[in-house]
Amino acid sequence: MAVHVSRELLEKHDKAGPRYTSYPTVPVWTKDFGANDYLDALRELAGRPDDELSLYLHLPFCAKHCHYCGCNAIVSREKDAVDNYLDRVERELDMVIDVIGKGRKVVQLHWGGGTPNYLKPHQVDRALDLFRDRFDVDPDGEISLEIDPRISSPEQAAQLRASGFNRISMGVQDFEDSVQLAIGRKQSRERTMRVFQGCRDAGFEGVNVDLVYGLPGQTRESFAGTLAEIIAIEPDRVACFSYAHVPWVKPNQEKVDTTLMVKGYEKFELFQLTIAMFEEAGYDWIGIDHFAKRDDELAVALRERRLHRNFMGYTTRPAPHMLAFGMSGIGEVCDRFVQNSADLAEWGAAIDAGTLPIVRGHKLNDDDRLRRSAILNLMCNNELPFALTTRDFGAPANELLADGIDAMQPYVDEGFVTIDDERIRITDLGRHFARNVSMELDAYLDPDSDKPLFSRTV
Ligand SMILES: C[S@@+](CC[C@H](N)C(=O)[O-])C[C@H]1O[C@@H](n2cnc3c(N)ncnc32)[C@H](O)[C@@H]1O
Ligand code: SF4
Repeated sequence: MAVHVSRELLEKHDKAGPRYTSYPTVPVWTKDFGANDYLDALRELAGRPDDELSLYLHLPFCAKHCHYCGCNAIVSREKDAVDNYLDRVERELDMVIDVIGKGRKVVQLHWGGGTPNYLKPHQVDRALDLFRDRFDVDPDGEISLEIDPRISSPEQAAQLRASGFNRISMGVQDFEDSVQLAIGRKQSRERTMRVFQGCRDAGFEGVNVDLVYGLPGQTRESFAGTLAEIIAIEPDRVACFSYAHVPWVKPNQEKVDTTLMVKGYEKFELFQLTIAMFEEAGYDWIGIDHFAKRDDELAVALRERRLHRNFMGYTTRPAPHMLAFGMSGIGEVCDRFVQNSADLAEWGAAIDAGTLPIVRGHKLNDDDRLRRSAILNLMCNNELPFALTTRDFGAPANELLADGIDAMQPYVDEGFVTIDDERIRITDLGRHFARNVSMELDAYLDPDSDKPLFSRTV
């Protein structure tokens, strides 16, 4: 249940920290890790032929660049941009297949962006076939994509479903006209609702919506209106992201009028409102910023404390490896994290030269694996059962991570966590500070560094 957090408490604990979509986090990964290191990981994967895989494809193209966007998105005037991109994805796939062989079992395939539904129907089918020809994609697995409703239609939804996608998520962000103007994203609610209904009619198993809080021009009243409209159409899951304003990385955000931006406690209140309204409407709050209907498998998994997450998001069916394709894709193979170049030209040039387009990565050691498992449990399941680590790491977590757990005492005193002989549990109040708690187990954080590597608590 949502618990009210006061301004004083938030300000006391508001600090920059990772969201722990991975541990170690991306800033720890090194540029010394390159294509040859990835090839080593792939060779190891070839020796584990029964391990199941998740696959990610990044499709960066968009019709227009939204001012607020923090994704790796491209607006191209080149006529054949998508076809040329898919040609390179094909070569990238073949470089991987040369090592791991054809026919590996895939339980999760996700297309992210950018805007995957920018592709024309024949390009969608081509891109899907690139994967189906090389992998054994389980039709009952999660085959999902992100769409922009502004360039979609019920007809397209039906085509995507017929092509084999079974889950879909659409960007909404905010329905308020003044907010849409401020973020450079005009999106009619009529069209959004029509596309949403089209997805329902097409028979998608999951129809999900993305919202963002903290956008310029948002007020409590206006955002409550957007939330109410979304609740009324009953998406299966909702992601409500905290607006990340990083114009030094995303120059398009320079167009955002910062004087209109909601910040600090006012921003946090928008999220408290989101939690309250979704809980009231029968959704559970999942992880940092997701909501799922109470009977959705994510909500059930959270209650049973068996929720996981990978770079694609929360899941109940984690595959041990994730292969990523396309510019900026992030993968995880045999205890290595790898990232493709986020620069289209650089990514393409590497592939044209016959090299895997890896720009950074990290090989996990035993200590990383231990801490990752502990942090993942805290961030997904709001607890760390000490016995969890005994099988893989030879001792319970309270012995192996004693220093970090001792350092959580101030959070015990605040009522954010309880610690007994068996487990650490994050309380309902503490969920707002799960990142702060998890940071005590992070071996890479430099307490003396004030580099703005991460966003703040809100
Ligand atoms: C790839 S987009 C979704 C599909 C499509 N491109 C669209 O915008 O409708 C992924 C999502 O990331 C979120 N997002 C984008 N920029 C963001 C930012 N700066 N801060 C927080 N969330 C952001 C939005 O909710 C967006 O829907
Ligand atoms: S928010 Fe979506 S549509 Fe807008 S630029 Fe980013 S990826 Fe493209």
